[in-house]
Amino acid sequence: MADNEKQVSWGGRFSHKPDDLMQVFGESISFDQRLAPYDLQGSLGHASMLAHVGLLDEREFNQIKQGIEELSEEILQADFPWKLELEDVHMNLEQALRTKTEAADKLHAGRSRNDQVATDMRLFFKDACHQIKTALEGSMRSALDLADRYALLPIPGYTHLQRAQPVTVGHHLLAHLEALGRDYDRFSTVADHANVCPLGSGAIAGSTLPLDRGFAAKILGFVDENGDPRLTPNGMDAVADRDVFVEFASACAGCALHLSRLAEDFILWNSSEFGFVELPDSFTTGSSLMPQKKNPDSFELIRGKTGRLIGNLQNLLVTIKGLPLTYNRDLQEDKPPVFDSFDQLCLCLAVVAGVLRESSFHEDVCRQAASDPLLLATDLADYLVEKGVPFRKAHHVVGELVSLAESQKCVLTELTDEQAKASCPQIESDWREVFDLERAFLKREKPGMPGPNHIKGRIEYWRSLLA
Ligand code: ARG
Repeated sequence: MADNEKQVSWGGRFSHKPDDLMQVFGESISFDQRLAPYDLQGSLGHASMLAHVGLLDEREFNQIKQGIEELSEEILQADFPWKLELEDVHMNLEQALRTKTEAADKLHAGRSRNDQVATDMRLFFKDACHQIKTALEGSMRSALDLADRYALLPIPGYTHLQRAQPVTVGHHLLAHLEALGRDYDRFSTVADHANVCPLGSGAIAGSTLPLDRGFAAKILGFVDENGDPRLTPNGMDAVADRDVFVEFASACAGCALHLSRLAEDFILWNSSEFGFVELPDSFTTGSSLMPQKKNPDSFELIRGKTGRLIGNLQNLLVTIKGLPLTYNRDLQEDKPPVFDSFDQLCLCLAVVAGVLRESSFHEDVCRQAASDPLLLATDLADYLVEKGVPFRKAHHVVGELVSLAESQKCVLTELTDEQAKASCPQIESDWREVFDLERAFLKREKPGMPGPNHIKGRIEYWRSLLA
């Protein structure tokens, strides 16, 4: 028993130590040790509060503080002996602190591992959101630079993967930027939702001790814009709630989804069938068999990892789904998926930033692909609308002309004026001007459209946001 007591903090009522198998099965130290900085921060906040309300004297507080500082340093130097038999990060650090000062035995007053882990994870999420936002800025800057470099280069835009209407590389890449911008905002929201302090909830029902929850919350930075503490209002909810986990994993999956769609565009554009884009050697790989191959693995892996991130979200939802209030040990499994989503998303964002930075467009191929007059068939319908033809009729007329050109095996603009006029008397001899690509873009200067001035404006908008 004496041995067991040394090992785990809950040993008092047990006469046997856990089976070796149970220790291996129940440990979380292999994955929650990365919470150490947040756990130490949380402990320091809790100790400060205990001192503030008189449950630690100044000497005890200073010893705890110094012990925590030493532990931080040891962990930073990777010089900390994590022990599997101590189960998790909380008990490892508490035991390590005990070897430094007896005062450590007073630290857990008014606290449970339930509110402790909830606090650690909220500190983690605030930090993780901040890091992801920084990584997102890197990807967005690379996308923006590329959009700027090829702002007015025409390419076909696609629906159903069929050439639809001409757009510009600027318009297309800015579309991805808009999506990433929404991700950025989502991570701000997740960080805001994480910014509420559960410490003081104890196991579920708080404590009889004269805790000052607001004091601890303020020290830990769980404050609103006026500096007032933000506290969880219900102890049972505080230790059972995993909403921020789900929101974070969902924001990660959503962001990966956007990266995956961007990746797919580049994979297509990079194929010989499109030939629009040249990817850098540094982010592509060769084939072990076929010497000519240069494969877009970086983008394919982003697509693949997106499946993994969606799986992580699913994993969490299913883990939480049937749990009665409040804490259940199942919840220990809540951490691997969010850590994995965080790590993998940071990698994906860095890779996207790297590939885009070094990619270039084959301008001739792009221009050639966008020059098919059929892409401006809708503009010819608009031309007729401006001459008073109802749109449905105009649509039909242009459809007939397309079909006529097809049957004559000629390009739409090679039809004669007579043929064009025969299908609709409102067509005048200037009808071919519609197919001037530059004119087509200039007529699209409203918000949301690929007009050159509008695109330049959006580039400046993003430039100033990302400065
Ligand atoms: N390692 C545990 C987890 O991550 C810490 C909380 C343990 N709480 C408890 N009541 N056993 O969930």
